[in-house]
Formats: sequence, C-alpha cells, structure tokens
Amino acid sequence: MSKKYYLTTPIYYPSDNLHIGHTYCTVAADCIKRYKELQGYDVFFTTGSDEHGQKIEEKAKELGVEPKEYVDRIVDSIKDLWKELEIDYDKFIRSTDPEHEKNVQEIFQKLYDKGEIYKSEYEGYYCTPCESFWTDSQLLEGHKCPDCNRETHVSHEESYFFKLSKYRDRLLKYYEDHPEFIEPDSRKNEMINNFLKDGLDDLSVTRSSFDWGVKVPFDDKHVVYVWIDALSCYLTAIGYGTDEEQFNKYWPADVHLVGKEIIRFHTIIWPALLMALDIPLPEKIYGHGWILFDNDKMSKSKGNVVYPEPIIKLYGVDALKYFLLREFSFGSDGSFNKEKFMNRLNSDLANDLGNLVSRSIAMVEKYNGGYLEEAGAREEVDEDLINMGISVAGKVDKAMEHFQFSTALEEIWKFIRRCNKYIDETTPWILAKDEENKERLNTVLYNLCESLRVIAVLISPFIAKTSKEIRKALRVKGEIQWEDATKWGLLEAGTNVKLKKVLFPRLKVDEEIEKLNEETEKLVSERNAEKAKFAKVEIKEEEKTEESEGKAEVTIDDFEKLEIKVALVESVEDHPKADRLYLLNLKMGDERRTIVSNIKNVYTKEELTGKKILVITNLKPAKFRGIESRGMLLGAEDKDGNFSLATVYGDLPDGSVIS
Ligand code: MSP
Repeated sequence: MSKKYYLTTPIYYPSDNLHIGHTYCTVAADCIKRYKELQGYDVFFTTGSDEHGQKIEEKAKELGVEPKEYVDRIVDSIKDLWKELEIDYDKFIRSTDPEHEKNVQEIFQKLYDKGEIYKSEYEGYYCTPCESFWTDSQLLEGHKCPDCNRETHVSHEESYFFKLSKYRDRLLKYYEDHPEFIEPDSRKNEMINNFLKDGLDDLSVTRSSFDWGVKVPFDDKHVVYVWIDALSCYLTAIGYGTDEEQFNKYWPADVHLVGKEIIRFHTIIWPALLMALDIPLPEKIYGHGWILFDNDKMSKSKGNVVYPEPIIKLYGVDALKYFLLREFSFGSDGSFNKEKFMNRLNSDLANDLGNLVSRSIAMVEKYNGGYLEEAGAREEVDEDLINMGISVAGKVDKAMEHFQFSTALEEIWKFIRRCNKYIDETTPWILAKDEENKERLNTVLYNLCESLRVIAVLISPFIAKTSKEIRKALRVKGEIQWEDATKWGLLEAGTNVKLKKVLFPRLKVDEEIEKLNEETEKLVSERNAEKAKFAKVEIKEEEKTEESEGKAEVTIDDFEKLEIKVALVESVEDHPKADRLYLLNLKMGDERRTIVSNIKNVYTKEELTGKKILVITNLKPAKFRGIESRGMLLGAEDKDGNFSLATVYGDLPDGSVIS
C-alpha cells in the first residue's frame, strides 16, 4: 500500500485581488504534490477559503450585498485562478460549507465540555484586517498592529477564552523534541523569543460585535473566532467528523505551508488547540517568505500589484511557475521584477531548455528522418553525460526534503546546460557529413533524446505542461515515475520523434514589459467594471475596499492638532516587564516625561543617551506592560524594515516645537 502524504496551503481570505504573492504557496504545494505522487505517495492536497469575519462582513456591506453573496462570487474567481494555474488540489474547503460549520461547532463544544474554554470579559486591541487581538506589550508605537502596522481599535466585550496560557511549556518542549516541526529555523526562534518566552495569554475565541461567523452552539450571541474556524478547515477538509476513515488515513498533516506572517497562528494556537482536542500534531509547519515587487510590498493602492492572469496569458502557466519556484528561495523574501522575469525566461527556458529540445529533435529529423536509431559504443563524453543525467534525481530529492525548489531546479538546469555542451562537444553536424560516422551520430542523437526524457521526468513536478510536451515529442506513453529519471535507455530505437512547436520563444524584454503592463491595466479595468456591476450600491472609491496602504489626505488643521517637540534623551532603561521595550527618559525644556518604545533591537542605550529626537507630545498616554508612555517618538523605516529615529537639522534646544 502506498504511503500517504497530506499537505495544505492556507485557507485564503476571499479577495478579488489575488496577486502572484498569493499564488506562491499554491504553486509550491502543487509542485510538492506532483513530486510526491511521482514517488508513489498517495497525496491529499487541501486549499480553500476563509470566509467569515468582520472584514468580510464590512466589505459585503460596502457593496450592498449579503456576505454569502459576496464570498460566493469571489470564491468562484479564486477557483478559476487555481484552474488557470493548473493547481491539482484534492479539496477546496470553504469555511462556509455547512458540514464544516457544524464541525467547528462540535469542536468548540468539545473544548468547552473539557474545560478548555471559559467565559470572561475581553478588553484588548483588535486589528480588523488581521482579525487578531493584541495585548499592550505586543503593540507597536501608536497602538499599531505588530503584523501589519495598521491602527488597532480597543475592543471591550464579553468573550469566551481558550486556555492557551497553559500550553506554553508543552509547546516549548514540543519544539525542542521535534526540531523539524517549524521550518525554517529562524521562524522557530522568532516564535520563542517574541511570543513564548515572556508567557502566553489566554486567547479570546469568540466575538459578539458582529454576526458573520459560526455561532457558538450554546450561546448564539457569539461567533467563533475566525482563526479557530479557519484552522479547523485542515481537519474538516479530510473528513473530520464526517468521514473518519479518510480522516484517519491522512491525518496528521505532513506539512502546512504558510506565509511567514501567519506562522504564529500555526505554531502556537493550532498545536495548542490540537493538544486540547487530543489530536496528533502536524509533522511540519513551513513558513515561506514574501514576494515583494521591486523590494516593496505589493498593494493595489501603490499600483504595483503583479497579477498572475496576464503573465499566464502572455507566457503560459509554466513560465510563471518556473519563475516563482526558481527565482526565490522558499524560506526567504524575494522581489519580483518584470525585467528579471523576462531575462530568466530568455536564459533558462528559451535558451537552455527550449533550445536543447528543439536542436536535439531537429537533428534527429534532419539526419535520421525523425527516427531514433540504436545507440552504439559509448565514449567517455557519453559516460559523463549519462552519469550526470541519472544522478540528478538524487540531488533534487535532497533539495526537496526542505522544499528548496530553487536548488532543485538549478540541479536540473546544470544537466540541461551539460546537454547543450554535449552537442557542442560531439558536433553532430560534422558527424552527419560522413557515412562512416553513422553509428557515432546515432549514439549522440540517442543520448540527447534520452537526456530529454530524463529531463521531462525531472521537470514534471515543477512545469508539468512542458514535461508533457517533451514526452509527447519523444512519444513517451503512459504514466511516468520518479525513478524513470534514474534509468537510462528507456526510449526504443525506431521511435519517430517530432516537436510540434517551439516551447519558449525568445522575448524582447522592453516590448514585453509594455505588453504585460497593457494586459494588467486591461485586467484591472475589467475587474473594476465587473465589481461595479455586481455591487448593489455605487462604489465611490475603489481603493476603499482594499487594503489601504496610503493614508487619506489631511488639512492643515488636522496637522495643527499634533504637537511635535524636540526632546533630549537624558537616560534609557530596560522595561522591567518586557524584554523588547526601552523606557526613554526625556527632557523637553522644563518638562520631563517617559516614553516606552520598542527600538531596543535598533539602538543601544549609549547610542540614544544625549541625542535629540522628535516626539509627538499630545498623543493620548497609553500603558505598556504597566508603565505609562506619554507621547510617541518619530522615525522612518525603509522597505527592508530598517528603522532610524527622526531628528532636526541643526542644533535646536530641547522643547522646541516643530511646525
Ligand atoms: N485566511 C488566512 C489563512 C488562514 S489558514 C488557516 C490568510 N489568508 S490570506 O489570503 O491573507 O493569505 C493567504 C496566504 O497568502 C498566506 O500564507 C500569506 O502569507 C500569503 N501571501 C499573501 N501575500 C503574499 C506575498 N506577497 N508573498 C507571498 N505570500 C503572500 O492569511
């Protein structure tokens, strides 16, 4: 019986603005699925949509439609996108599926019956876009969300709580005993240092200030916290509560692939919930990096979003998949750039792979009428090629153990480049001139076609369509297996090889960038028109419904409301209760005050002492872990998150007012 493998992507928020960053995880998961299947695994791949919550309720309201109507439309478009990308998932779970909702209620009831959930009062900061609560000590300056840096708001309501705090030690122990549970390692350290080290708070797991969610079974004033709802999708997608046989077959998950900003939910809340439910934990949580655009976060308001559809339309699905998997290292952030994309298409796909395929097959057509002949005696150069070819699969395996797609592809491409060199070394066009060299020519052409067959197997998890084209040209019939890449001589003499079309034409970079921009504009305006047609009310500002990165215009009167002063840092202390915070003792003329700040990882105490900085002095005071902070210091952050304090040009006395 084949071994099972269960993998998941996150359960996506329904958005009609899915960009290439969103496709990254799904493309990676699809690649893993295909790779594992070739190795004989029985794979189950879950993706889906996370459709409840305040954010969705608000968006639907903006369009004047019911939340369900809103999500239905978007979920259809997400499914269309996965289809276009040829994502081979097994289950698309919707958190609004009635079976799922029923199961979430049962999970909630079970936790309550076991005493894992209790009722209390919640007062905290809530970030609506992230659907997350934060405590004082976790917030950034100005009560901003530490995940997305947007404003949070104080939420004060009756709530049910999950006893998360009691799982802190078990989680730390689990991490220690299972070093591969969280990958890459850096993400694990982040979780320990930023969330677990200082203790965990219990988690508010219901909301009563909005309606769009799964009702708490025994108290329908409350809806279940969206993260509990969404994470449970990983269980319900494979039959938890409905098909125990299937559930027992696939659970525990072998890997949850998630973006780095939601790793906290997957490595702290999720395992604690599973522990509370006595369900075994997943084998691995992999936190991948983010795809930026020209080193900046992609956002609709910045107009720098790269959509997958125009790329697929112009260059094909494999070009996009190849680029995503080859260009970036899965665990780290990477930056998309249109020029880089075109150049890689030209060098790797058109020049290296495309050329190899068309040259090899064209030579068989030209010199042998399209028929493969038996290979003769091998020379050293043949042995070298063959040995390299049949050993690539092992190298790919090594890279794929840790989802290093880019390294895996580079190993395959080393072989592709070796094959191109083999053509130059063996010069078939010279061999073809003399009938005496016929056997040698046949050997070279056979080896080239066998190399193409091996390459077709190797690339198949990454760029399945291209693999199929190559196999079709070589008349390879039936299913392939991964181990076919470790064998030599499977093509039969007498095979009639034929390539129907050029796989990847060379691109003129500047022209193509223009074309891509045009297609993108077309797509955006089509989408806006569709959205306006769908909406039951007039959409005034398109951007308003999207993540608003840029801020609204202000008047001079708005600005006048702020008091900004030059402050002298007299001394700096550590916050007694929060490792990440400093207490800055400031002097502004005759006045002295303390500000709590999280710039500890940026400046040492010595660097700060004696400096003059800028402070908003009339900000409402706030307490950070028991200490009142009066005001907010100003600074700037670059795209990579490097922070620098703001100061004035020239030496002004402390207490001076900025105007
Ligand atoms: N609904 C939650 C997940 C719940 S899982 C139980 C969610 N959804 S999301 O739609 O906002 O994000 C889906 C995935 O897309 C996340 O893993 C996120 O990291 C990923 N990405 C969104 N933008 C991205 C990039 N620019 N680059 C790479 N991945 C990014 O979070």
